Amino acid sequence: MEQRRAAITAVGHYLPEDRLTNADLEKMVDTSDEWIRTRTGISERRILKDPEKATSYMAANAAKELLEKRNLDPAEIDLVIVATVTPDMFFPATACLVAAEIGAVNAWGYDISAACSGFLFALSTGARFIESGKHKKVLVIGADKMSSIVDYTDRTTCVLFGDGAACALLEPDTDGYGVMDSIEHTDGSQWSFLCMLGGGSLNPPSPVTIEKKWHFLHQEGAPVFKAAVKGMADVAADLVEKNGLSGDDIRFLVPHQANLRIIDATARRMGITMEKVMLNIERYGNTTAATIPLCLSDWEPQLRKGDNLVLAAFGGGFTWGASWVKWAYDGSSD
Ligand code: UT7
Repeated sequence: MEQRRAAITAVGHYLPEDRLTNADLEKMVDTSDEWIRTRTGISERRILKDPEKATSYMAANAAKELLEKRNLDPAEIDLVIVATVTPDMFFPATACLVAAEIGAVNAWGYDISAACSGFLFALSTGARFIESGKHKKVLVIGADKMSSIVDYTDRTTCVLFGDGAACALLEPDTDGYGVMDSIEHTDGSQWSFLCMLGGGSLNPPSPVTIEKKWHFLHQEGAPVFKAAVKGMADVAADLVEKNGLSGDDIRFLVPHQANLRIIDATARRMGITMEKVMLNIERYGNTTAATIPLCLSDWEPQLRKGDNLVLAAFGGGFTWGASWVKWAYDGSSD
């Protein structure tokens, strides 16, 4: 019997219906479909337009899809972890709202703030509760309503982001499947390149923070791009090397979807052709913590038991990391 690992045993997702296309953005800011597609790979994103609905709504819907697919009683869930930088409120944690909404009456929960690396950090954290034997069912969710913090007059950021949520269920496995290994990093010295300055204890909301647009996401694209290309490629390569894997052993690279050029560089560095890279940036843009689980959910029908996946992300903080996951079930069996 192999050691106890945390296997992903189900996935689910939620995407709002409204689409914001490059053509729509051409009418809002000085940009072009050509610039957006060639510089980022994005054609459209989903936007949660209803002002009364927020991140917990999308996260709960993703979780409900998962529970329904698995015919699972929500009362069996032990722990709900939500990775997000757009919580419904500072507190309570979005995880509390999601657990209540889905009927996870026996679960506890908390949020993780690690921007685009959020899902990986949540996966790594959630896996420890399974490996230790403390819990049997952990729900890990990546969800972000990026449209709530995007300045739609700033062409350098508004073309990049979209809204969405997706999740994975972790359960114990002793047959050699699940989260095999992971590497995580943070570097807070470079925080100012990608942040939201206002609203926290440093710059509480005031007429000044509103006037300065500090309640919107701020990104200096070029330094983030440079750090992301290096960070994501390095950490994925380190993980693969540490575990004696080669490009041939990997069925899919599952990269955070911020920019097609960053993904391309990571794949090349790992000796992986683009057919083995999960890509949905064209349809959803950068949904921050949701990109990686959204990929898993989109690709689920193609996944087979034993497939080696390398998940990799880079984001604000800076935060970055990679996980090696051995897929635990045949997608088509659902
Ligand atoms: O997910 C978390 C991590 N985030 C990332 O990984 C994002 C990393 N950064 C990027 O993906 C890229 O830096 C961007 C896509 C954000 C920008 O691409 P870039 O090739 O780095 O462009 P740039 O910022 O160097 O700007 C090049 C030019 C500038 O014009 P000038 O100064 O050369 O005249 C920009 O003003 O492109 C201009 N530009 C635009 N033009 C048309 C910037 N945004 C736009 C736009 N439409 N939307």
